[in-house]
Amino acid sequence: MHGCRICQSPLEPFVDFGRMPLANAFLTREQFADEYFYHLRAAWCRRCGLVQLVEQPPAERMFNGRYPFFTRTSARMSAHFAALAADLIAGLPDNARFVVEIGSNDGTLLRHVADAGISHAGIEPSASVARAATALGVSTWPRFFDAGLVSELIAAHGQAGAIVAANALSHVWDLHGVIGGIKTLLAPDGTCVIEDPYWGDVVAQTAFDQIYDEHASYFSLTSLAYLFRMHDLEIHDVAAFDVHGGSRRYFISHAGRRTATRAVSGLREREQASGLFTPAAFEAFRQRIDNTGETLLRLLRGHQARRLRVAGYGATSKSTTAINYFGITPELVEFISDTTPEKQGTFTPGAHIPVRPHEAFAGRYPDRAVLFSWNHATEILAREQAFTASGGRWILYVPQVHER
Ligand code: TMP
Ligand code: ZN
Repeated sequence: MHGCRICQSPLEPFVDFGRMPLANAFLTREQFADEYFYHLRAAWCRRCGLVQLVEQPPAERMFNGRYPFFTRTSARMSAHFAALAADLIAGLPDNARFVVEIGSNDGTLLRHVADAGISHAGIEPSASVARAATALGVSTWPRFFDAGLVSELIAAHGQAGAIVAANALSHVWDLHGVIGGIKTLLAPDGTCVIEDPYWGDVVAQTAFDQIYDEHASYFSLTSLAYLFRMHDLEIHDVAAFDVHGGSRRYFISHAGRRTATRAVSGLREREQASGLFTPAAFEAFRQRIDNTGETLLRLLRGHQARRLRVAGYGATSKSTTAINYFGITPELVEFISDTTPEKQGTFTPGAHIPVRPHEAFAGRYPDRAVLFSWNHATEILAREQAFTASGGRWILYVPQVHER
């Protein structure tokens, strides 16, 4: 086993999900025979606090022309990134009016920067979503972010006044390569904004299904501050957002340029005091995952015995971990409804549960619906009141298994 990807220290494994397919590798029947699997396990580092995958499949296997996750499928996320775009534009230094987004997906954020006529570059290696961004007028580089790309960006536009990576840095295996690139690209008075699911919230909610191939790292302020300090960068502010099950947005600048806010010292103190980085916390987390699995399977088997129709809602990347680790089969969940055209008509990775359009759900409501997109619960439950009015009930498994 290699060492920690931030500080090289030996890793402490704490959960082993076994053999797993890629979270976003939705497939057709013809592709069942040569499905790709890897070993999904997570570990933590006592020195810097980074929670991380022990191994990650090659990036090109995950992020390519078949990548099917489009940020725009959630109205909530679209509004969230429109607000971030407005903040970035308002904070741009006069001498560096250039915005770079690492992992720009379908252009949900940068389209607002493009509409404001501000020079920008979206870096997005997954051709499927990069094409969708280009169609919106977002200037998109269909590549991975690395040192060579940074030189080209600086040659074309100069240094960036804002660099943003939302739900992107957590996907990166080579952290030092990317942070080194950010250090070079960021203008002296520029701000880098990093946003990702927060490990403290994953633990608090037992949101174990955030752990899958694409998420190489599960950040905290402790681990990110350690990483940035190694590159002479500093986190000067941090804010909490209730998206993707609980996220933190970190504001980073060149060392010595800004004074850190109370939010930074406060979160650092809470992380130290909480016992988040103790063997007991990781062991308790692992036990809660297995409890969730046993309870959920008992519930689904009970419904099967009573011949209730159970469907899934949201063929999410996260659900791949839950479905395959717990052993949920098409006998227990007959199909999963999803609004993404690229996923419809395919089967889920590993378990091969059919993915159908929303009409399959709304046209004939099942008795129960497992909410695999639990992070969008507020948005979805408000919209689907006709389902519960018809007598249907939701099954949630985060923070614990319950019906409502
Ligand atoms: P995410 O949890 O990784 O954001 O993925 C959300 C998935 O759920 C995506 O495939 C789109 C789907 N989805 C729906 O089918 N209906 C919805 O209302 C929402 C918000 C998402
Ligand atoms: Zn470390």
